[in-house]
Formats: sequence, structure tokens, C-alpha cells
Amino acid sequence: MTVRTEVQAFRRFRRLRRTEALRSLVRETELSVAHLVYPLFVTHGQGLRQEIPSMPGQFRLSPDMLAQEAQELRALGIRAVLLFGIPARKDAEGSEAYDPQGIVQQAIRALKEADPELVVITDVCLCEYTSHGHCGVVRGGEVDNDRTLPLLARMALSHVEAGADMVAPSDMMDGRVAVIRRALDEAGYVHIPIMAYSAKTASAFYGPFREAAESAPQFGDRRGYQMDPANAREALREIEADVEEGADIVMVKPALSNLDIIALARQRFSLPIAAYNVSGEYAMVKAAARLGWLDERRITLEVLTAIRRAGADIIITYHAKEVARWLAG
Ligand code: PBG
Repeated sequence: MTVRTEVQAFRRFRRLRRTEALRSLVRETELSVAHLVYPLFVTHGQGLRQEIPSMPGQFRLSPDMLAQEAQELRALGIRAVLLFGIPARKDAEGSEAYDPQGIVQQAIRALKEADPELVVITDVCLCEYTSHGHCGVVRGGEVDNDRTLPLLARMALSHVEAGADMVAPSDMMDGRVAVIRRALDEAGYVHIPIMAYSAKTASAFYGPFREAAESAPQFGDRRGYQMDPANAREALREIEADVEEGADIVMVKPALSNLDIIALARQRFSLPIAAYNVSGEYAMVKAAARLGWLDERRITLEVLTAIRRAGADIIITYHAKEVARWLAG
């Protein structure tokens, strides 16, 4: 028998891919329901469960439907929701946003009553509540940053007074994290965290959401305050500023078109990073799956795993319920 002494010329990566047991042994990224946040849309009324046309499987629910929803989420192991409201009336200053009887405030109370352990996070932004559809107060045809800040602080405080566990400002005004932190601290809510939508780009991926939340701007667009998707260094400066102002979790949004930003932020910052797998990302998967062009389950798990691999700890996703079912079975 001859002994072969030459060095092997290539590496055999396939050795660890042969069986599912081997693959799972060396898998680097886990997707688990513990990291998912499920967005919920709430609307005034009774017994309402209106499907959102461009977001199949997502509904606008009236507050009386939320106890059942909370039960379903608990059974699926989904422990956190992000709330959006559709108000009864819109006005220039978005006053239902900070009304103790507002739709989100009612929804918070209903959810916390149904399941006190559910983590109820609220979106803090005026766009659903203003008649012009912008995320702040409009003066001279422009969104006025500093006049908007006190309203955001008031809105966040009213959510926390109603029982919210965390607030998530999404308006992209400068300084909002600082004013919200101060308002919460002064009212004794030092223990309530802020999840800041830090790097949020002006994106066409929000289209279906704006239909769901009836929040499309009535004139112009949001490019005067949301970030230019072309900028990565600026995204890091936005995140840095929110960390300095007191954010506990920073968010990158949309997720799929910003995986590089998530990865950069992961290297640069040590606090938890959330990624928002937004309405347009969901709608694309649903549309292609309906046409039979994609395998819905595989594509969804692939997308969410990629967002985790990029460095997100938390994923906010409309797919949360189906993923919980797939991961369980
Ligand atoms: C603003 C807000 C938006 C989304 C979350 N918060 C829309 C916008 O900025 O126009 C989008 C979420 C999604 O598309 O799923 N309140």
C-alpha cells in the first residue's frame, strides 16, 4: 500500500452540510419567536376586523377584538406588539394622538387587561392623526421640528399613562428622544424604555402601511425629515445621536434595503438593535406567493434569518404569526 503524502488542494465545506442534524449543529444564526414584535392596527368601532387590501392577513381591529388577539399571540409565543392607531378625527395638530381616550390609549388598556405580561410598544408619530398627514406640525408649508417636539412628548407620556411598556418614536424629528426621555422621567416613568426609529429612510416600502393607517401625506412627501436612502454614514450619526439622547434600543428601517446599515450599527454600537421588516417587504412576498412565483414559507424564513444575521436582535414583522406557527411545527 502506498502512503499518499500530497496536501489536499481544496477544502471540503460540504462535509458539514450533509444532513440536517449536522447543518443545525453548525448554524450561526437562530430565528426565534422571542425576538419578534407583531405590529397591530387599531381603529374605533365594535366587532371590527377589516382586512388591509395591500397587506393580506393583516387587519384593523376595534378595541373589543384585542382580548382575543392577545390570547392568540400568547398561544403562539409572541410576547410583544407595536401599536398603530387610526383616529376618529384628524386635525392640524393631531390632537387624538395625546387624548387619554384616543384609540391607541384604549387599545393599550384593553391589551394590558387581557394579558398584563404582553410587552405593549407604541408608535409615537403624528402622521396618522394630522389632517395633512405629516409627522409634525406644519408651518409655512414645512414640518416645524421644534414645535412638534412637545406634542411628541405629550403623546409618549399619554401612552405610558395608559399602560404602555415602551414607546417608539418614528417621526424623525431631531431631539425627540431627549424630550420624550425627559417627559417620562419627570413624570416618574424612569423605568420605561425608548425604542428609537433612529435610521429611518424616506422609503417607497411604506406604501401599504400608509393605506392601512390612512397616513399618506396630503401634500409633498417626507423627504424633508426622513433620511435619504443613499446615506450610510449619516445613518450612523442618527443612531449615535439617539444613543446620546437616551434611546434604549435603536431601530433601522426598512430592514431589507438597509442590511448594510444594520451590520455597521452592530459593529459600532453595543445596545440592542431592532429592524423593521416593513409593510412593502411583506406585501412583495405575499403578492409573489399568491401568483405562485415564490415559496412563501422559505422566502419569509430566509429574509428574517438574513435580517438577524446582519445583526438585528429584534425584528418587527407582519409575518410574526405565521413564523411562530412554522417554527413550532
Ligand atoms: C410613521 C410610521 C410609518 C411606518 C411606521 N411608522 C410610515 C411612514 O413613515 O410613513 C411604516 C411601517 C411599515 O411600512 O410597515 N408613523
